[in-house]
Amino acid sequence: MTVKESLLYTSKTDDRGRMRAVTNNLILHFHPTKVAKPALRFSYTWGLGGISTLLAMILVITGVLLMFRYDASVDRAYTSIQTMETEVLFGSLIRATHHWSANLLIITAFLHMLRVFFSGGFKKGRATNWLVGLALLLLVIAFNFTGYLLPWDQLAYWAITVGTSLLDYVPLVGSAISGFLLAGPEVGQGALRNFYAIHVAVLPAILVVLMSYHFWKVRKDGGISQPVNRPTGADGKRQRAERVTTIPYLVQIELAATAVVVTVLLLFAMFTPAPLEALANPNHPPNPAKAAWYFMGLQELLLHMHPLAAMLLPGIVLMGMAFIPYWDKQEDNIGVYFRSKVGKRTAATGALLGLIVVPLLVMVDEYYLDLPALLPNWPTLISNGLVPLLLSLAALVFIYFLFRLLYKANQSEALTGLISFIIVGFILLTLVGVYFRGANMALTLLV
Ligand code: HEM
Repeated sequence: MTVKESLLYTSKTDDRGRMRAVTNNLILHFHPTKVAKPALRFSYTWGLGGISTLLAMILVITGVLLMFRYDASVDRAYTSIQTMETEVLFGSLIRATHHWSANLLIITAFLHMLRVFFSGGFKKGRATNWLVGLALLLLVIAFNFTGYLLPWDQLAYWAITVGTSLLDYVPLVGSAISGFLLAGPEVGQGALRNFYAIHVAVLPAILVVLMSYHFWKVRKDGGISQPVNRPTGADGKRQRAERVTTIPYLVQIELAATAVVVTVLLLFAMFTPAPLEALANPNHPPNPAKAAWYFMGLQELLLHMHPLAAMLLPGIVLMGMAFIPYWDKQEDNIGVYFRSKVGKRTAATGALLGLIVVPLLVMVDEYYLDLPALLPNWPTLISNGLVPLLLSLAALVFIYFLFRLLYKANQSEALTGLISFIIVGFILLTLVGVYFRGANMALTLLV
């Protein structure tokens, strides 16, 4: 039976045919009937948008199941999690699946953003979806942050204490936001109640709106981006990409990816339970007290600069990321990874520079450099804040123009190199924070 026949299917006698018609109908509510063949190439998207969608769906399902047993009270939250782990049928597996999907979603959404950037998927009318995507990434982080507190163990309590104290440094609005979140002078019942409400009601509502808009916009933009430099036909015009039916060509890839992701995730969750440390104890801070891993890049920056500068630097970079579609408008390299040969060179050099310069700077600042001591008459806001902030921004500008001059790179290619540098630098700062900071946040890199 063809797709068309199955959609027109009306017989009441053949249940399988009816099921197929209903399923096809449902699929075609979410997908167009045809998609461009090059868009199906796995090595173009790596399925990362779809995998992020699948993880979001798994999170909603497992999250609702967890809600049946979880109790958002400082006296009972921890024991409700313990009960879930030991007494509820499949409780431990459901909690582990929720926990690991949430962490994985940060990674897949981040990688999806990199795929979109490096393949130029934000160009040609896709700027809005790039911005919505950035909002989705921040939303996913907010989900993880608010969920982190709920088990009410030592890990949760101190990571959120550190995390909300980072928020305090955000200029203008930071302390108002952390004041609202905590609903008191420190992490306590008010914070747990607020985090829970935000985690299970506010953020899901925003997620549904943003994700629906994100998907609708992909369809409205004519599907995902396509290489524009397709071969020309006999008439001298660019050939149109071949189109194939969504059923079965796209759907079979989605089903295969779903089967792999769900299997790997469940196997991992079976053998790696979600962490649960001792009950939260406000009088007993761990040493070192670290934020959640996805904030460790920020916490690492705080060790090197005045808090205001440490918040401003990633803030400025994030704003720069939002401007990317207005900065790089060159359309003849859409769908080509890293834009061109020159783009590949700038990207590789940017990544290599990040790999060398960032760990080097971390070590120099840790062991040798003391800006406030070097500039004793200046207030620390300037010596340890404005000075390193301006130096960092100047370094980014320098790297951009280095690519323009050294490789004769155009705007698009130079930006590719600059973003490679920033991404590698950010990942390294996070890794240093997570793995190489010991007691009192001292560097353990050379120990
Ligand atoms: C919860 C997070 C996200 C989900 C579930 C999601 C989902 C998707 C899906 C399913 C697609 C179409 C298929 C694909 O390209 O893989 C897509 C495309 C797109 N996404 Fe996302 N996305 C998310 C986050 C982001 C982020 C962080 C960005 C960038 C900052 C972004 C920007 C875009 C853009 C511009 C497109 C169109 C790409 C093209 O035409 O090549 N998305 N997204």
